[in-house]
Amino acid sequence: MSPFQITRTLPEDAMAAALRADVLTGLTFLPKALPPKWFYDALGSELFERITELPEYYPTRAEREILVTRAGEIAGALPARTLIELGSGSSEKTRYLLDALSGLHSYVPVDVSDSALTQAGQALVAERPDLNVHALIADFTAGLTLPDAPGPRLLAFLGGTIGNLLPEERAEFLAGVRTLLSPGDALLLGTDLVKDEKVLVRAYDDAAGVTAAFNKNVLAVVNRELGADFDPGAFEHVALWNAEQEWIEMRLRSRAAQTVKIAALGLAVDFAAGEELRTEVSAKFRKEGVRTELDAAGLELSRWWTDAEGRFALSLSTVR
Ligand code: SAH
Ligand code: TRP
Repeated sequence: MSPFQITRTLPEDAMAAALRADVLTGLTFLPKALPPKWFYDALGSELFERITELPEYYPTRAEREILVTRAGEIAGALPARTLIELGSGSSEKTRYLLDALSGLHSYVPVDVSDSALTQAGQALVAERPDLNVHALIADFTAGLTLPDAPGPRLLAFLGGTIGNLLPEERAEFLAGVRTLLSPGDALLLGTDLVKDEKVLVRAYDDAAGVTAAFNKNVLAVVNRELGADFDPGAFEHVALWNAEQEWIEMRLRSRAAQTVKIAALGLAVDFAAGEELRTEVSAKFRKEGVRTELDAAGLELSRWWTDAEGRFALSLSTVR
């Protein structure tokens, strides 16, 4: 096998069909909403990388701190031969795991973003010629088939991306993860933790406006892929804390009454002045909640690490 292989499990036409279905449903029901995976075209992936460097966006730094200090313990607890990573993006923090896993045979990054996977995969094989990198372009919410690779397997889901799923979607996702694992394998899960509201809101509404640009990028994706005529400037970025659900909500608020045409769907969508389109939630967690959700999926939380300030957690769970 060549050291870098990339498999597209999502044919372009299936992606296009999924986007059409999501946009049709999301913009014709109230309140309007779009699923977050459509943020990540090449520009969206690049904007997300800029978010991770913002002074206000602490999750990446907090999770990196845990990986830097705990990668050895993680590798000791689960000396994986295969590392699978869902929503791997740039794979930047993953390097600490790759360094610590001394017996690693294969790395399987999985992402919807073709550009992020290609860039990350090429950089990794250049640095580590002995590592087999088998990238999968796939939707991790749609039932994954993983390539054959030796166990034990560590499945990493970092970045707090699990918080971008709604509670029912999370339950379904974790049950799916459980079916991918065999006894002796483990899940390494990154979860952002509940904290002061001001700190949370700032992380999703930065002073430089990078998060606003990222949020509005979903409109550019719909314009390009479905021939829509969204004017991103006619929408305002909104981030707010929902204390009851314990999640941040990202929205796009229509600055005025307007009608948007979506040519590929033959659809005209009216927005009232001030009407909001929900683009993403980012749930924040507590240890007991994480344990309960894992347990419901047949996974047992065995280790829990946080950064020194207690902002973010990494947990290791085994198959029950
Ligand atoms: N793990 C990286 C990136 C987090 S951003 C980090 O911690 O910095 C979330 C990543 O998940 C993006 O790269 C995005 O393209 C990917 N993603 C989002 N929804 C997805 C889905 N449904 N299936 C596969 N990948 C998805
Ligand atoms: N997984 C990231 C998070 O919830 C994704 C993210 C960060 C994001 N900033 C965002 C998504 C802004 C939409 C808008 O922290």
